[in-house]
Amino acid sequence: MAVDFGVCILAAGLGTRLKLNRPKALAPVMGRTLIDYVVDTSKEFLKKEKLQGKMGVVTGHMRELVEEHLNKNFPGEMEFAFQEKQLGTADAVRSYFKGVPAATKATYTIIICADTPLIRDIDLSLLYIHLRNEKKDAVAATFYEKNPTGYGRIIRGENSLGFHIVEEKDASSEERKICEVNSGLYIIKTSFLIEKLAKVDNKNKSGEFYLTDLFKDHFNVSPVLFNEGEIFLGVNNLIQLEEASKFLILRKIRGLQESGVRFLDSSSIIIDHFVSIEAGTVVYPQVCFEGRTEIAANVVIESGCMIKNSKVAEGVSILAHSYLEDSIIQKFASIGPFARIRPGTNVGEGAKVGNFVEIKKSVLAKGAKVSHLSYVGDAEIGEESNLGCGFITCNYDGVNKHKTKIGKNVFIGSDSQMVAPVSVGDDCFVAAGSTVTQDMPSGSFAISRGKQTTKEGMAHRFLKKKS
Ligand code: UD1
Ligand code: MG
Repeated sequence: MAVDFGVCILAAGLGTRLKLNRPKALAPVMGRTLIDYVVDTSKEFLKKEKLQGKMGVVTGHMRELVEEHLNKNFPGEMEFAFQEKQLGTADAVRSYFKGVPAATKATYTIIICADTPLIRDIDLSLLYIHLRNEKKDAVAATFYEKNPTGYGRIIRGENSLGFHIVEEKDASSEERKICEVNSGLYIIKTSFLIEKLAKVDNKNKSGEFYLTDLFKDHFNVSPVLFNEGEIFLGVNNLIQLEEASKFLILRKIRGLQESGVRFLDSSSIIIDHFVSIEAGTVVYPQVCFEGRTEIAANVVIESGCMIKNSKVAEGVSILAHSYLEDSIIQKFASIGPFARIRPGTNVGEGAKVGNFVEIKKSVLAKGAKVSHLSYVGDAEIGEESNLGCGFITCNYDGVNKHKTKIGKNVFIGSDSQMVAPVSVGDDCFVAAGSTVTQDMPSGSFAISRGKQTTKEGMAHRFLKKKS
């Protein structure tokens, strides 16, 4: 039977220590933001446990940005409650019930902080199972922390009955030695929560309304100790942001490895959340995958490559130190080493883009080759055409960009330029060192270089004698 669940995400904090110029909930992680992970986890938990749920987010600092982000990424799924002043976590939950009145009717409420992106749906399930099996009014996830500074300490009641939480500032020196700490994740019967919330005051050293005071003087509540404390990592500064990112990246990479992707050094890889890689692909060290990149099966990606928002098809080789952005690379093509593929490029099946080649907004058809030291911009290159070393499209006149069209099976000798707009038909031949300014019909030959003059015996005039 479906139980009505309220998910209360606390996201009013500014996150001053992150120094990011945006609210903490929107701190960047793997091409997304911190809060996206908490939303995903909550959604996944409700789905797996077959629960009816409502998600409410408590916003405060720069609320417009947080709300805009969530409305865009989770349209229609979130409700918002505004906490005017950050008076403490209990006050935040009071704001939640004010802003999302329907949440008062839910049987249970989960409270989760926006800055804890490592928590998984299975952790929420574990907590929920405990609450149900033990018929508790509330459960709090706890863990052991060698250096518990900053955390609320768990004071367990006698005979395992009840518990309470002492915040760092209010703890005695004896209590501060306790290493079981509060994670900030709770599942609570909503009726119990509302009743206790009304009684929370701010008579403590911080002058804040502590949510942790809920558990005072009540026996039917219980801490649930988790073995893997690192999943509760809260992001408060840039060091923890890096830690959280690395943890999530590794989690993703482990998943990819299980599905058959081979990484030669997973610790050096940066990969965004929405990147997909298929089995049989090999990734060398120090590769970055960003945005909505899709890598098909049996691709080889050598060291130092950056691949952003691109689609790479089966069997492609991307050799060391290549940079790809908003582009499509078709089957068995080869890119690099040291190639730059700029937005709007489509490299055809089996085509080759070699070293020190830049391609911008161009289409290279099947089997086309640009092997060395070239610039191809705003161009269409036909099937099996070969552009020699040092080929350049002169596509920009200082104001406008112009197109170059080259047909099929064209051979262009080294050190040639196409002054766009210009078009070359199929089966053409351009002699090395030519500057092509006029269209060439199919089957034509062009040469446009200064005529060579050779004077026998005259070199000595120009050769300087070495003393
Ligand atoms: C809280 C717990 C502490 C626990 C720790 C775990 C309390 C009183 N203490 O402390 O026992 O060990 O988390 O990390 O709850 N927030 C609001 N409005 C507020 C205050 C906070 O929305 O007025 C949000 C913050 O944005 C954050 C979360 O609540 O997402 C936790 O607040 P924070 O100030 O980080 O609490 P801690 O001092 O870490
Ligand atoms: Mg905190």
